[in-house]
Amino acid sequence: MSNALKDYLASCQTRVEKALDARLPKANLLPRKLHQAMRYSTLEGGKRMRPMLTYCTGKVLGLNPEVLDGPACAVEFIHVYSLIHDDLPAMDDDDLRRGKATCHVAFDEATAILAGDALQALAFETLANDPSMGASPEQRIKMITALTKASGSEGMVGGQAIDLESVGKQLTLPELENMHIHKTGALIRASVQLATLADPDIAPDIANKLDHYAKCIGLSFQVKDDILDEESDTETLGKTQGKDQNSNKPTYPALLGLKGAKEKAQALHEKAIESLSIFGTEADLLRDLSLYIIQREY
Ligand code: IPE
Ligand code: IPE
Ligand code: MG
Ligand code: MG
Ligand code: MG
Repeated sequence: MSNALKDYLASCQTRVEKALDARLPKANLLPRKLHQAMRYSTLEGGKRMRPMLTYCTGKVLGLNPEVLDGPACAVEFIHVYSLIHDDLPAMDDDDLRRGKATCHVAFDEATAILAGDALQALAFETLANDPSMGASPEQRIKMITALTKASGSEGMVGGQAIDLESVGKQLTLPELENMHIHKTGALIRASVQLATLADPDIAPDIANKLDHYAKCIGLSFQVKDDILDEESDTETLGKTQGKDQNSNKPTYPALLGLKGAKEKAQALHEKAIESLSIFGTEADLLRDLSLYIIQREY
């Protein structure tokens, strides 16, 4: 990771932690167990890759980070909800997430379901009302539409449904790609889109290039997640290593081998960089981020 990215990542992490904390219901607000579960799963953990993408895209466009706090939190709220539900016994049945007990283990299953539900609602409430965004009603509707599409049955939830249906099956490469584009790519794409929608004067060509970049890294992110599940370890990952193979999930390493999966991640990184060719140094953080996604250790 470049030093510039390291510094920026650290400053974003502090920023997003504060912004999430401020937008989450207080732990002593009734119903306390639900609010504590929402805070437990959201705060102090995770790479914050999606908020980072929102802020780094904003930097390319010269936007003030303050107008992006709401969108960055909204996408992280959806992501955390997706993780809580992904870990439930009915889905991946995991007991470790971000180095601590999963929500349903630390609380209980019903609370975990409700915490996910409430985080999803909070994401859309944030886009609709957050005062620091200073967005017009039209911009807010466009952002809400983008995030609903990315989250719903034609986005993340659809991908999760394909994932569950695919257990024990041998998918073709296009089928596997389709699953990954939906379950993970859609939300990563939305992280970039929310920043482009925060700029009312953005040229369509610029928005398209950034969207293409986001599509490439959205897929490379999940390819790398599959690789890490196979070759990393539980402590580094903060989640149980080897789950995909144990659960008979179709993955890139299962289909292409580790070497093939790594080549795929590299090729997607190169495509992502190509999409940024019209930008100058203002897009260096996005370039670094794409490399980080395929080189990260967790
Ligand atoms: C994990 O996402 C789930 C996937 C979509 C692959 P991250 O690797 O971004 O998880 P955190 O937010 O850093 O915990
Ligand atoms: C999760 O994919 C995608 C989501 C929408 C949460 P995985 O099931 O591979 O994510 P991890 O490995 O549990 O983080
Ligand atoms: Mg899963
Ligand atoms: Mg999982
Ligand atoms: Mg995984």
